[in-house]
Amino acid sequence: MLKSGTDITPARGKLGVLLPGLGAVSTTFIAGVLAIRRGLGSPIGSLTQMGTIRLGKRTDNRTPRIADFVPLASLDDLEFAAWDPFPDDAYAAARKAAVLEPAHLEPLRAEMEQIRPMAAVFEREYVKRLDGPHVKKGRSKRDLADALIADIGRFRTERKLDRMVMIWCGSTEVYRTPEAVHQDLKSFEAGLEKSDPAIAPSQIYAYAALMSGCPFANGAPNLTLDMPALLELAREKALPVAGKDFKTGQTLMKTILAPGFKSRLIGVNGWFSTNILGNRDGEVLDDPESFRSKEVSKLGVLEHIFQPHLYPELYGNCYHKVRINYYPPRGDAKEAWDNIDLFGWLGYPMQIKVNFLCRDSILAAPIVLDLALFMDLAQRVGMSGVQEWLSFYFKSPMTAPGLYPEHDLFIQLMKLKNTLRFLRGEELITHLGLEYYD
Ligand SMILES: NC(=O)c1ccc[n+]([C@@H]2O[C@H](COP(=O)([O-])OP(=O)(O)OC[C@H]3O[C@@H](n4cnc5c(N)ncnc54)[C@H](O)[C@@H]3O)[C@@H](O)[C@H]2O)c1
Repeated sequence: MLKSGTDITPARGKLGVLLPGLGAVSTTFIAGVLAIRRGLGSPIGSLTQMGTIRLGKRTDNRTPRIADFVPLASLDDLEFAAWDPFPDDAYAAARKAAVLEPAHLEPLRAEMEQIRPMAAVFEREYVKRLDGPHVKKGRSKRDLADALIADIGRFRTERKLDRMVMIWCGSTEVYRTPEAVHQDLKSFEAGLEKSDPAIAPSQIYAYAALMSGCPFANGAPNLTLDMPALLELAREKALPVAGKDFKTGQTLMKTILAPGFKSRLIGVNGWFSTNILGNRDGEVLDDPESFRSKEVSKLGVLEHIFQPHLYPELYGNCYHKVRINYYPPRGDAKEAWDNIDLFGWLGYPMQIKVNFLCRDSILAAPIVLDLALFMDLAQRVGMSGVQEWLSFYFKSPMTAPGLYPEHDLFIQLMKLKNTLRFLRGEELITHLGLEYYD
């Protein structure tokens, strides 16, 4: 097991951020980093850039910035590479995604035009609503994996990178559960040779990343490496992995509100959530099979926060429904409605309506940045396998086998910060505080 206060290799040299998918989230993330570097914007929403961490007692007045407490890569040291089945460069893709205003993108244009996606490993069977021309060809899935490994190697050499991380920002793939080919690494590699249809494109990227020594985080709800074969590879290569599905928008609100109701023992018998959105993500999720991946990821949250098996009277009959409606006029400016049916003292009913006019990619971009920097930190510390301390960023956090995921945002934040304290050999904060009254 990792020792508290262990030596951490400093973040020297450049960190390459590899992004399968150059759509709304990726381009908003890249443009944001470029703008922040030039002092044209502020990294709002990013714990690594704006967060602080309390150390010791409340009377000690020690609250450094997280970035000063643990050695993280600096924004100036980030280099970007992406793959996409559409050949648009990052500037053109950002204009199409229409998340950031043209006036915001214009000063970054020359830099963003330099970021051209590499040809993707793409299969329509996994993302039915898209059909892009910029796709790799190979005799087998093994060939495709080798082509990705070659891309990664070239990027490392050309940019003189010290380290790399891969964050999946590609479309949501159709819902799949692990099959025989996913059970161990040997079967998976044999499956690559045979182009087993159960191996998804995102799994080929994850395999290529791990084979190239890159940590991998999954921003979408697809299965990807949440299965034994690739977890075995991560362990073998001593690499950190994390997932799944960035926690933004409606689910973020849910994991803020639900722990509040639960802590005051307020009953909930219904939670209806619906969304309209009109971006490419919405178009992909209009396909029932891709929606199923998202639905499973979104539905798990309340069950784990409310623990109906422990509180049957309060949450045993909670009807939870989630809808996503593709509505092109909205573009990326999603609107989410929640109707929550609650009950209190003696069973008296109440309702809460939430109407969140959110911007999905604006909420996702700081998550991509934090994950890139924390996954890189984890690798330098020598943490490998599933990084549960990064659950804070995911709708559907991966855990060790047999553990239920922790969804409560506040517990997740405490876990993240306590992990950082542990790494630096600082006392963990329990919030007991009895010593102030002795
Ligand atoms: N707040 C959010 O925006 C948010 C939150 C949670 C999860 N996500 C997930 O993040 C992902 C990206 O979201 P987005 O809004 O940027 O979507 P997007 O549609 O704008 O971008 C996804 C890009 O991935 C590309 N792509 C599809 N398959 C690919 C493949 N096999 N290889 C490489 N590229 C591929 C698409 O062509 C597209 O350009 C989606 O899966 C989405 O569900 C987004």
